[in-house]
Amino acid sequence: MTSTEKTERPSELFIDLHVKYIQSLDTKKDDLEYWLTEHLRLSGVYWGLTALDLMNNVDALNKEEVVKYVVSCQHDNGGFGGHIGHDPHLLYTHYAVLILQIEDSLDAVNVEKIVEYVASRQDRQTGAFTGDEWGEIDTRFSYSAISCLSLLKRLDAIDVKKATEFIMLCKNFDGGFGSTPGAESHAAQIFCCVGALAIVNSLHLVDADLLGWWLCERQLKNGGLNGRPEKLEDVCYSWWVLSALSILGRVHWINKEKLIDFILTAQDLETGGIADRPGDMVDVFHTLFGLTGLSLLGYPGLKLVDPVYCLPKYVVQRVGLAERYHAKYGGGFT
Ligand code: FPP
Ligand code: ZN
Repeated sequence: MTSTEKTERPSELFIDLHVKYIQSLDTKKDDLEYWLTEHLRLSGVYWGLTALDLMNNVDALNKEEVVKYVVSCQHDNGGFGGHIGHDPHLLYTHYAVLILQIEDSLDAVNVEKIVEYVASRQDRQTGAFTGDEWGEIDTRFSYSAISCLSLLKRLDAIDVKKATEFIMLCKNFDGGFGSTPGAESHAAQIFCCVGALAIVNSLHLVDADLLGWWLCERQLKNGGLNGRPEKLEDVCYSWWVLSALSILGRVHWINKEKLIDFILTAQDLETGGIADRPGDMVDVFHTLFGLTGLSLLGYPGLKLVDPVYCLPKYVVQRVGLAERYHAKYGGGFT
């Protein structure tokens, strides 16, 4: 289909355009936006590379360059910064491990130092994790630490029981989870908590029906999902909500066709890429989470995404982690 034939409401996914859009991000060094997002550079590589892999185009970014860049973001203490010379942070350390697993290149870095860094972020009294030396606590960091160490097969380096206890303190009466104890339920934090609990074999602690109900209530009339009651729909919640529903085996509780239509309508048919909602500017974050949402909905032409690790499923299988939770939870991840 040529661009002149593309309708206002696209009914298909324009994979070629999205691949070109992601490739073009590396060449936009004259744009102010490139410099404004410098602190997010390593995350951008993770979002872009994962999106490309799901679209069967992982080679669209040069593997050697990607690995070299990731290696250059590691500090002596084992942690990674968001860009060369930026302070280490747990989130970027997790993104580095995700990228290296996609590229099958863990041998390029000092894994033992990464394990040491991640373990050092746990408060052994409460089980919670801080993102960096400034001490902020958030269930995002619990997820990042648990996912990261599990991908390194080194969960033994932390107190998993305490980490689980902290996550459960963040569970609310509506079945959801927030960022800290007492904080309101938020779909992205729910992904983090349910994903972490899946990894540590503690999904029995989730009230799957109550939480599944809260999650499917996130779908609005236009088919899109929001992250909390009374908020606007946003393409990225296609991932945060659906991944949790997928882990709980309840994706069929939402209207798949309407959500697919909403995500496809948020594509930019001129530049490529997917926006947070139709008509807005595209970015690589929403491009990834539009694609992961479509993958969980079984959209044709995309690789399957793993709902726990947010990696292509074949990568999780290669690491040897897929069988474990699939066997335990009856493979209800659809
Ligand atoms: C929404 O933020 C997202 C979150 C709070 C969770 C982010 C999760 C991680 C960084 C863990 C790693 C994740 C993956 C997939 C590997 P927001 O501030 O945009 O939320 P808003 O919609 O309320 O503004
Ligand atoms: Zn968003």
